[in-house]
Amino acid sequence: MAKTLRRLVKSIALTAAVAAVGLTTTAPASAADVSSYVVGGTRATIAETPWVVYLATTSGGQFCGGTLVKADKVVTAAHCVTGRSAASTRVVWNREDKQSTAGTVAAVSRIWVHPGYTTATAGYDVAVLTLTAGITSDYLPLATPEDTDLYAEGTQATVLGWGTTCSGCSTSRYLLKATVPVTSDTTCRTAYAQYRNTSMVCAGRPEGGVDTCQGDSGGPMVAGGKLIGATSWGRGCALANYPGVYARIAPYYDVLTAQIGS
Ligand code: ARG
Repeated sequence: MAKTLRRLVKSIALTAAVAAVGLTTTAPASAADVSSYVVGGTRATIAETPWVVYLATTSGGQFCGGTLVKADKVVTAAHCVTGRSAASTRVVWNREDKQSTAGTVAAVSRIWVHPGYTTATAGYDVAVLTLTAGITSDYLPLATPEDTDLYAEGTQATVLGWGTTCSGCSTSRYLLKATVPVTSDTTCRTAYAQYRNTSMVCAGRPEGGVDTCQGDSGGPMVAGGKLIGATSWGRGCALANYPGVYARIAPYYDVLTAQIGS
């Protein structure tokens, strides 16, 4: 298992390196062109998903996604922000096109990482950023422990992000979304020995083709109008029988609410 993990980490690092070397992002001529080279995604608008944000460095480079869960609170993945300072982190809202200057760039005053977090594959992959000012009142509620139906096999979940459009590709210039079915615990456990249904939830079609990918981490997985997951990890992207793994939000409802306020 340690070997598999190392290989996984290596492949993630390699993918990141390839993405960083940056083949220049080829801009699609129109929204209609996108689906042909996205991991099964299509363009999304901020108007329909006003709570989606991306995390950026002070020089503007996007590195993860996130979700507004209060006017001034963002839920993301712990692995996105662990070891980062609040001062070096920005939250970008209302900017579908990363090459534009649209929307709001918010400063971060505090980063809370779940104290149980070590690595994404061990669970606890959740974090809360506090912004120096509120952005919008159009934020998304967290799934609660009562929302078991939202985690049932086959629930159609929406995932969003500016991550890579295939394993090893460059990240997307535009916000993309896709719909993926929640998988059963058995399916996810078969794919991944590290799967824990107390801290993770998997989604993806058995045949693959639609998935989140590098750079989407921390971004929203939404069902029933609630945040049910945060993009966390997976083997490659969009591979058959290897669903994407998301941090499961409901088990962290109390601990997250303590950070967010009710
Ligand atoms: N770890 C990746 C990130 O930091 C997310 C990977 C998601 N992978 C997947 N197959 N769904 O952006």
